[in-house]
Amino acid sequence: MPFSLRHIVILAVVAIIVLTAILLRTNSSGENGPIAILDISGDELLARGEYLAIAGNCASCHTTSTGEFMAGGLAFETPFGKLYSTNITPDAETGIGNWSDREFLNAMRHGVRPDNEHLYPAFPYTAYTRISNEDIAAIYAYLQSVPPVNQVPPENELSFPFNIRSLMAIWKALYFEPGVFEPDEEQSDEWNRGAYLVEGLAHCSACHTPRNFFGAERKELHMSGGEYLDRVRTGAHRPWSTPNLTSTERGLGLWTQREVEDYLQSARNDFLESFGPMNEVIMNSTRFLSDSDVTAMAHYLKSLPAVDEPIAEEPDSQLMGRGRTIYNLHCGACHLPTGEGDPEMAPRLNAGSLVVQSANPASMINAILYGPETPGHPLPPRWLEPMDEFQYQLDNEEIAAVATYIRNSWNNAAGIVTAAQVARQRWR
Ligand code: HEC
Ligand code: HEC
Ligand code: HEC
Repeated sequence: MPFSLRHIVILAVVAIIVLTAILLRTNSSGENGPIAILDISGDELLARGEYLAIAGNCASCHTTSTGEFMAGGLAFETPFGKLYSTNITPDAETGIGNWSDREFLNAMRHGVRPDNEHLYPAFPYTAYTRISNEDIAAIYAYLQSVPPVNQVPPENELSFPFNIRSLMAIWKALYFEPGVFEPDEEQSDEWNRGAYLVEGLAHCSACHTPRNFFGAERKELHMSGGEYLDRVRTGAHRPWSTPNLTSTERGLGLWTQREVEDYLQSARNDFLESFGPMNEVIMNSTRFLSDSDVTAMAHYLKSLPAVDEPIAEEPDSQLMGRGRTIYNLHCGACHLPTGEGDPEMAPRLNAGSLVVQSANPASMINAILYGPETPGHPLPPRWLEPMDEFQYQLDNEEIAAVATYIRNSWNNAAGIVTAAQVARQRWR
């Protein structure tokens, strides 16, 4: 049977997809001339572009730990396979040296390359699309001024059909809304500045919003906490959960505006220090922003309407008792039996850590299994001793019990952690 009905249906579906992709292909060219009339030039323009590139944290994704500045090649593990960031130095052959400012704008705002191919949203153009023409022009000028590096990133290893770039046209038609940030007239200038930074350059929602099956942010759950793969202290990649940044009692409602500002500006606040993936966000980006920009961001973040966590199931007293025993033995010396922490030993775990209260416990389990990796140099030490990694000391049942105990003691009510959830953080 050379051709069954099933084959024909499959062929027809593929044909429709490809045709749609061709039809939807965004036309990136068209206009010529400068993308913005700038009132600054020379060093002032470059300084402005550098500041904005820092706010956008381009270097964290476009520079590997051993590689040259902005030369790309950093690997991203996604559910669809592995892809690499590109070289955005002004090298004419392998970087963006031959790109016009308009071609650069088309990448940032529309996710298209000069050859009209679509870019993958691991490059957060879904947020950068909101950046103004003036700011894109300044970033362009700055990137054209960094030392050129001749280097091609490794070949992507994406699974079929995600390795077909033109199919991204369908994804974009369904999920991508290009467009510059529009200020809300009802809100203050400070709020609008904060929204512009948080939702645009700082792309907080790229990690803090849950994604659907096709990897698109779920708008109705904006900033309420997601999950993605990132590095743990041992160097392996594991799922990380991102806490709820809306103003719920288990989300950013736990922190004052001042505590948010301190955290973004210094990686610390009165009771905790940053650890894990937030280290790069803060150490490479937000801590270099001006006081007024950080204040504006915190102000906007604190205004996000609450997206409540699902009601958590309460653990029984047997599980809590088991967890308490393990806690008092292994954790209480630093975090204290009351969970209040100690200014020299450990952060408080009662009403304060969003990671502890998060509906998804993945990041909290990472902290316990592999130890929380704090930023370290160049910050002066904050704690007398680092926390141990407990992956060899405690088994999955024990970690589940102690995590459940912390999440449901004192004022916390964040639900049960199962041994299966711990196992998932050990092996993928
Ligand atoms: C979260 C990681 C991440 C951040 C942050 C990031 N990029 Fe990228 N960028 C990528 C990845 C991954 C690609 C490759 C996408 C692809 O191949 O489709 C990319 C591609 C690009 C491209 C297309 C280049 C080409 O040759 O196709 C440009 C331009 C670019 N980024 C500029 C920037 C600028 C400017 C910033 C900062 C404002 C930035 N990126 C921040 C991950 C990132
Ligand atoms: C690369 C992904 C990523 C980006 C981008 C990101 N976050 Fe996070 N964030 C995380 C993860 C993962 C956690 C939980 C583990 C940790 O703290 O690193 C987290 C935790 C947090 C916490 C709670 C920290 C705690 O210990 O309770 C706050 C507050 C926060 N992020 C704010 C922000 C803000 C504001 C932005 C934008 C400026 C942002 N994040 C951008 C991944 C990200
Ligand atoms: C030697 C002292 C010490 C011991 C013992 C210890 N911790 Fe920690 N813990 C720390 C330090 C230091 C940090 C990192 C600072 C930070 O993340 O704010 C930390 C961070 C954490 C965090 C992340 C909190 C956040 O949002 O920042 C959790 C969760 C945690 N510890 C749980 C535990 C558990 C569970 C145990 C016992 C199995 C334990 N710790 C044992 C010192 C300790």
